[in-house]
Amino acid sequence: MEKSRKTLADILNEAMVAANTMDRDKLLFSYKGILYPATFCSPEVFRAMDSLEARSDDIILAGYPKSGTNWLGQILNDLVAIFGKKAQDKESSMNYEEMQEFPYLEMGDTGKYERMNKSPCRRVIVTHLLPENLPSSIFRNKAKILLLIRNPKDVATSFYHFSNGMSHLPSYETWDDFFIAFMTKKMPWGCYFEYLSKWNKYADDENVMTITYEELKENPVLGVKNIAAFFGVSLTEKELQSVVERSSFQSMKKNSLKTHGKHGDVFFRKGGVNDWKNLFSGDQNKKMDKAFEERIKGTKLGTKLKYEVYCKA
Ligand code: A3P
Repeated sequence: MEKSRKTLADILNEAMVAANTMDRDKLLFSYKGILYPATFCSPEVFRAMDSLEARSDDIILAGYPKSGTNWLGQILNDLVAIFGKKAQDKESSMNYEEMQEFPYLEMGDTGKYERMNKSPCRRVIVTHLLPENLPSSIFRNKAKILLLIRNPKDVATSFYHFSNGMSHLPSYETWDDFFIAFMTKKMPWGCYFEYLSKWNKYADDENVMTITYEELKENPVLGVKNIAAFFGVSLTEKELQSVVERSSFQSMKKNSLKTHGKHGDVFFRKGGVNDWKNLFSGDQNKKMDKAFEERIKGTKLGTKLKYEVYCKA
């Protein structure tokens, strides 16, 4: 197994440098009708992805961009490290860090999936993809999926700031321009509402657990406990507390230069609920409320979001 692959921070820094020299209209490309950032994804990598052999002990995190995937990624990696230590199998002597791939499934090089297939470690795989675009072995081999959802107004707000803070995404002169793009399917990784309605079809599967950003924020101890139980990781009280502490917004923000490089601040911006109130106009609230009602209100995921609590002006 190849050693010392680039860190997440190195990959992010290099992608930002490359994006700085690109024209705005070349930053995204379309694959099967959905836009993706050209500095992180490519059609070749998408085509290679189906060679991934998923395993029943894989830990998959699915979430639309800006739903808190870095947060949950930290929690899941911690859980896997604890699990690995306890398992004390023959692989425990291997350096877990060195076995790691870039956490997002759809970002990397074409050789990534073969390396992942060879990795003996329990794998944490993060993705923003729609279920239909995932490697088929994920469902065939019954890998467990943690589905992370966040209220659409805070997602849009977070996405706006992220797009303007990172050079690999098209930036927007005004929030109003961004809002139109968000509501008209111009976002990388596709439309928020489509994402939720497609994943809603899997929400009752026994191998899928849904968690909301807001519930984890409200009670992180209970959230981490439930996630650990779902993936079969037993935790002592002390371990539970340390996972919660290491994944707190303050800890992750403090550590972000090391984990995410000089753009760390953009990934760990405010980490709260309701920041949308600083951006949405009355008319934009109405439009979002209407879209929510028409697209996902009556669904299981729509109910789980508690829109009335988190999104009503
Ligand atoms: P804000 O922009 O609202 O602050 P993703 O990781 O999927 O890109 O999502 C990013 C959002 O998750 C950002 O939201 C970020 O601040 C928030 N976030 C990241 N780590 C967090 C943590 N430990 N606790 C709470 N929110 C966190």
